[in-house]
Amino acid sequence: MKTLEIHGSTGDSFIHVGETLRNLEKYIPSENMVLITDKNVKQFYENEFPPHPVITIDTGEKIKNLDTVRDIYEKLVTLGADRSTFIVGIGGGIVCDIAGFVASTYLRGVRFGFVSSTLLSQVDASVGGKNGVNFKNYKNMIGVFNQPEFVICDLNLLNTLPKKEILNGMAEIVKHGAIEDASLFEYLEKHSQKALALDIDVIGKLVYDSITIKAAIVNQDELEKGERRKLNFGHTFGHAFEKTSGVPHGEAVSAGMVAASQLSVKRGHLLAKDAERIETLLQKIGLPVRIQAEGKSILDALKKDKKRKGDRIYFVLLDEIGNAFVDQIPIKEIEAVIHYFS
Ligand SMILES: NC(=O)c1ccc[n+]([C@@H]2O[C@H](COP(=O)([O-])OP(=O)(O)OC[C@H]3O[C@@H](n4cnc5c(N)ncnc54)[C@H](O)[C@@H]3O)[C@@H](O)[C@H]2O)c1
Ligand SMILES: [Zn+2]
Repeated sequence: MKTLEIHGSTGDSFIHVGETLRNLEKYIPSENMVLITDKNVKQFYENEFPPHPVITIDTGEKIKNLDTVRDIYEKLVTLGADRSTFIVGIGGGIVCDIAGFVASTYLRGVRFGFVSSTLLSQVDASVGGKNGVNFKNYKNMIGVFNQPEFVICDLNLLNTLPKKEILNGMAEIVKHGAIEDASLFEYLEKHSQKALALDIDVIGKLVYDSITIKAAIVNQDELEKGERRKLNFGHTFGHAFEKTSGVPHGEAVSAGMVAASQLSVKRGHLLAKDAERIETLLQKIGLPVRIQAEGKSILDALKKDKKRKGDRIYFVLLDEIGNAFVDQIPIKEIEAVIHYFS
C-alpha cells in the first residue's frame, strides 16, 4: 500500500492506494459510522462491509440530485446520526459525490471518507475535495469543496467493474499523462493491454501516478482558479460531445482530447506526431477518437460551457506530451474548425 496526501483548506486528505475495503474499520475514528453505497456495490461487496448501518441509493447520473440527498438526510435522522457520526461513501463517483455533499451539509458538516470502487473515482472523482450533485440539467451545479479525511483505493474492487467503466477511468489516466507526465504516458503506451486486463502491478502504478498528478495540481490550486483548470483537458469538447451524442463520459473525453490535441497542432503548439501518439494510444485502449455529432449542436453546447468568458472560452492545450497550458480561444476560431472534429 502507498499513501498520498492532499493539504486542503478544509483539512488534510490521505489517499491509500492498494488498501482494502476489509481494513476500512482501521481508519474510522468514531464508533458511530454510517455507510452510503449503491445497489450494485452493495450486491457485490456487502459481506466485506464493517457492521454499521448502510444507506443504499440507486445508480445512474439521474439520481445524483437533491431528492436523493434529502432521502439520505431523512435516513440519517431516523438512525439518530449526530455530530459524532462518521460517514463513509463506498462506491464510484456518484456515491462519493453524494456522500461527500451529504456529510458536508448534514448538521453543518460531519467527518467523512471514501472507499473508491471504480477506476474513474480512484483516479479522479474521489480525489480533490469536490462534492456535489446535479440540478435541473446542470451537472454538479450544487456542491462544496471539502476534503474527505481518507480515500481507500481498493484495486481488487475493479475486478467486478464492467469493461465500459474501466474505459471511463482509462481516459482520465491518459489525460493525466498527456497534461503532466510524459513517462506515465509512455508507460501506458507500453502496458495498455496489461492495464486493460487489470494486472495488479500495472493498474496499481497507473492509479498511484494518476493520483500523484491530480493531488499535486489540487495542492497548488484547490479552488480551481488556475492550475486546476488543466484537469479539464479534453473536457470542453468532451462535455459538448457527451451532451449532443449521449456517449459515456470516457468516450466523449477521449474524442475531446483528440480534438484538443489537433487544435494545439493547428495553433502551432504541438507537433503533429505527438497528436498522433495520443490518438494511437486511445485507439489501442479501445476508446473512440471521433464522435458522430452535428457541428452546430456541438457549438451550441460549447457556448453553454461553464468555462466560457464572453466570446472566448478557456481551453486546455498541449505544447508537448506531458505539458499543458490554458488559453482563451475565440469561439469563432473553434467554429472555423469544428467540422474537422466531429
Ligand atoms: N468530484 C469530482 O471531482 C469528480 C470528478 C470526476 C467525476 N465526478 C463524478 O463522478 C461520477 C461518475 O463516477 P463513476 O464513473 O465512478 O460512475 P458511477 O458511480 O455511476 O459507477 C459506475 C457504475 O459502476 C457500478 N460500480 C461501482 N463500483 C463497482 C464495482 N467495484 N464493481 C461493479 N460495479 C461497480 C456503479 O453501481 C455504477 O453502475 C459523475 O457523476 C461525475 O460527475 C466527480
Ligand atoms: Zn472527466
